[in-house]
Amino acid sequence: MMELGRSYKSFKRIDKSAYTSSLGAFDINVYVDGDVGAYRKIHPETTGTGATTLAVGTLIVREVFDANGQVSKLTLMAKGPSGYDPRIGDWWWGEADPAGNPTKLGRLTECHGCHLPRATDDYLFGVPREDQR
Ligand code: HEC
Repeated sequence: MMELGRSYKSFKRIDKSAYTSSLGAFDINVYVDGDVGAYRKIHPETTGTGATTLAVGTLIVREVFDANGQVSKLTLMAKGPSGYDPRIGDWWWGEADPAGNPTKLGRLTECHGCHLPRATDDYLFGVPREDQR
């Protein structure tokens, strides 16, 4: 899993170029390996996009930049097998340093709060339409 975290730059980048997070004044990129087609149907400005659920094994990497334009951390979500964590769509969560070394990972309930209301989009926000490639 963390091997993938290190090679995320070879994944499909979903956004055209780094854009501002809705959580604050920092920029992000989103990379996906796996079910890119379903992820591209999901956007934060809409709910219930009908994208159903992403394929098991899909890995999403959100690259977070600091004010100097350097990557400060990676946040990760991976689709686990059915039953891994039914509370939140069987998603596995992680955070890693810019080199992909994990700082925390697993069934991280601290990550659930904001993502739970996105249940009809497989607990994902997606990239805004205007920022998507
Ligand atoms: C304060 C609310 C909040 C919490 C808590 C939160 N997220 Fe998110 N997350 C968001 C928002 C909003 C987005 C959409 C991108 C953006 O605006 O930054 C997002 C996007 C993501 C994405 C890109 C996939 C997607 O949803 O489209 C990943 C990966 C991710 N978060 C991982 C995590 C991890 C790992 C944790 C726990 C360490 C976490 N999140 C906790 C609000 C949150």
